[in-house]
Amino acid sequence: MCGIVGFTGRQQAAPVLLSGLAKLEYRGYDSAGMAVRDGDGPIEIVKAKGRLKVLAEKTNDGFAMQGDCGIGHTRWATHGEPSEVNAHPHITEDNNVVGVHNGIIENYQELKDKLLKHGYTFYSQTDTEVVVKLVDYYYKKYNIGPVDAIAKTMVRVRGSYALALMFRDYPGQIWVARKDSPMIIGVADGETYVASDVPAILKYTRQVYYIGNLEMACLDKGSVIFYDLNGEEVQKDLTEIEWDAEAAERGGFEHFMMKEIHEQPKAVRDTVSSLVKNGCIDLTETGLTEEILREVDQVTIVACGSAYHVGVAAQYIFEDLARIQVRVELASEFRYRRMLLSPKGLVIVISQSGETADSLAALREAKKMNVRTLAIVNVVGSSIAREADHVLYTLAGPEIAVATTKAYSTQLIACYAVGMELARVRETIAPETLDGMIGELQTLPDKIARILEDKERIQWFAAKYSNARDVFFIGRGLDYAISLEGSLKMKEVSYIHSEAYAAGELKHGTISLVEEGTLVVGSLTQKDLYEKTISNMVECKSRGAYLMGLTSYGNYNVEDTADFTVYIPRTDVHFATSLAVIPLQLMGYYISVARGLDVDKPRNLAKSVTVE
Ligand code: AGP
Repeated sequence: MCGIVGFTGRQQAAPVLLSGLAKLEYRGYDSAGMAVRDGDGPIEIVKAKGRLKVLAEKTNDGFAMQGDCGIGHTRWATHGEPSEVNAHPHITEDNNVVGVHNGIIENYQELKDKLLKHGYTFYSQTDTEVVVKLVDYYYKKYNIGPVDAIAKTMVRVRGSYALALMFRDYPGQIWVARKDSPMIIGVADGETYVASDVPAILKYTRQVYYIGNLEMACLDKGSVIFYDLNGEEVQKDLTEIEWDAEAAERGGFEHFMMKEIHEQPKAVRDTVSSLVKNGCIDLTETGLTEEILREVDQVTIVACGSAYHVGVAAQYIFEDLARIQVRVELASEFRYRRMLLSPKGLVIVISQSGETADSLAALREAKKMNVRTLAIVNVVGSSIAREADHVLYTLAGPEIAVATTKAYSTQLIACYAVGMELARVRETIAPETLDGMIGELQTLPDKIARILEDKERIQWFAAKYSNARDVFFIGRGLDYAISLEGSLKMKEVSYIHSEAYAAGELKHGTISLVEEGTLVVGSLTQKDLYEKTISNMVECKSRGAYLMGLTSYGNYNVEDTADFTVYIPRTDVHFATSLAVIPLQLMGYYISVARGLDVDKPRNLAKSVTVE
């Protein structure tokens, strides 16, 4: 949450900052601001409440701010309401230190009280103003340079942060520090960039450094020096980013979400190709050998949001194929529970961004318990990817829309592959069944593409239901996992209240909410559970519900019950989630558009949740 960008180089900083912030707006968008400095001149700050375009208008696309060094921020409010005064950057009264911050300083109140006693005053309600002034306090009290002042601050604060600071005494330089919040540093000829995420600087450079946890760096024009908490220099290798800049553009689509929905056949194909070699599942790149997998006696899947829904689907699949004990846990719960994990267990953390605070904390908990960890992650070099024992990268490419689509689809593929490989080494699957499944896995991209060809039908239906008050998604087994994701897509982008229920559970209370015209979406992709769910749908219809059925070709009698039926191509039952989710993504998208909402940046949300 919150996006930060910094630049020092030969060109004007503000337009570079704005262009980077535009790529990070998915991380927060309630206010924005920039601080820019020309040589050793005064620091100029401009802030604006609202979307980035307000800041762009206020600064004439950045050209009204002169200076070749600057820092910028787009905010997702934590401490203090969205307002111009709470927007970053924050600065000391005498303009000695100015900074932007992503994360949360948990002990900010205690630090604020300490600074108040030392004569500091505060104009905002933010924790960021506190941390900027704390750096200033140590800098002056001990008469030390930026590295030591920042290090002392890092030791004193609790919480998470990616900080970018400028000091009056160090023109042309940006000082950064990081703990648990993402940050990358890019270099090009004579220019250096810092950002919360790669797309912000992809237009300018693909050469990046990953700054480690509890490290600092000093950015100068075209160079960067890293430091550890003791102030000792740290050597780092440059990494070449392989995403191309176009991957992070809308490419003719009206919204990123629609573009990313359409990118699913490719994302799924790329991910399948990376995991299937010569007709076999190949996890070599993750380092998970047959010996390791054979030892595993328990799987715990930990994630948040849609990634958690992937985990729910994976739970059914692993249990069924590999006959192994599986639990799926919300990362925010897992981290504070005293889970009983088997020493021979495997903890799988699923995350698109690789930076979700709760998932990262859960990973660290698992590591503390000495349990082997596997990260299924999309963003290369992200914290979760770096800290896990094994990494399986999904190949979705950059995902910009807040509502995940293609990353979710590739995470499913990763889980299928792990589940099938576990089944193979545990000898719980017949070789010919496995071969058939691997063959079927490779057909999924084309089947997804076929569903997308028929999207107008969903669009028509979505327009009809764009004023719905409540929607219920029901299903059993894997169809329940599909319902969870369909419901989240609906509420996050269309703001329509929706709930996902295990179809058999609905009558234990929630069915009292079903009334005349309530839309109930029943997922019916699991042959064995099909008739049971149909019965539950009929129970809703008897109470006035309008029924949408989502099923595979061949189950024709759905039309006898449902008022509107959407068909997906047939596939192995274990893979049905990959197909059934597509119409539900489209439905959420089209309802959001019909309601005139900002699909890519839904209210109150941020793409990467780097706070608890
Ligand atoms: C889904 O559309 C979400 N935006 C959200 O639930 C997301 O899946 C969750 O925050 C986890 O993010 P991650 O995959 O980056 O860890």
